[in-house]
Amino acid sequence: MTRLTRLTRLTRLTRLTRLTRLTRPASSWRERAREDVAAVLLRDPAARSRLEVVLVTPGLHAVWLHRLAHVLWTSGPAGRLPARLVAHWARRRTGVEIHPGARIGRRLVIDHGMGVVIGETAVIGDDVLLFHGTTLGGRVVTVDDQRQARRHPSVGDGAVVGAGATVLGPVHVGRGARVGAGAVVLVDVPDGATAVGVPAKVLPARLQVPQEPSGA
Ligand SMILES: CC(C)(COP(=O)(O)OP(=O)(O)OC[C@H]1O[C@@H](n2cnc3c(N)ncnc32)[C@H](O)[C@@H]1OP(=O)(O)O)[C@@H](O)C(=O)NCCC(=O)NCCS
Repeated sequence: MTRLTRLTRLTRLTRLTRLTRLTRPASSWRERAREDVAAVLLRDPAARSRLEVVLVTPGLHAVWLHRLAHVLWTSGPAGRLPARLVAHWARRRTGVEIHPGARIGRRLVIDHGMGVVIGETAVIGDDVLLFHGTTLGGRVVTVDDQRQARRHPSVGDGAVVGAGATVLGPVHVGRGARVGAGAVVLVDVPDGATAVGVPAKVLPARLQVPQEPSGA
């Protein structure tokens, strides 16, 4: 092999390695899928095996389909309709409606699934647990000036939202916070605090919240 050929091959290899590094996500789809399954096993006492979780957990299917829809949504204007179609199909299959624009962290567990609604500008951190019937919705019912605005809640790492709870508007549910079943949350919930009732009242914080937030 001549020196020139070797040099050309080396340059190509370096370019390829750089490109792979740039395009590779923080972790592969397979790794993310594995940790999603592990998260369900950890948080759902009724789940017995990985196979069972993969086959019959609608919340997990909804999260996986959302990942696909979100990639399409963020790929540009041409991806918007396909993204909405994937989300629509996911809703029919799982009973969970997640707008493809919603940003969702790692290891989200949606227990039971049915009736969960997550709006377009919602942001969910890592290790969040949502029960069925959770709504992360907009508070204002008119569309004027609302299309571009952030109008949905953000939920911090490790937060839990109970069955049938409704969180409305661009409020923040803090890291490690808990929203009681059936609550209607209209104000921020501090890290580690519990909010219950309609409208939700925030009880004093009792939990030690972990460090290193994911940004949600
Ligand atoms: C809020 C929740 C997380 C409990 O948190 P906690 O810190 O252990 O709170 P406690 O049980 O000590 O209750 C604190 C107070 O809130 C009240 N409370 C608890 N959950 C409530 C709820 N969902 N709605 C209204 N009040 C509630 C309690 O009665 C108690 O009131 P008191 O101090 O006047 O007696 C829990 O009750 C809850 O709602 N979990 C959701 C779980 C779920 O959705 N499961 C569905 C499985 S299918």
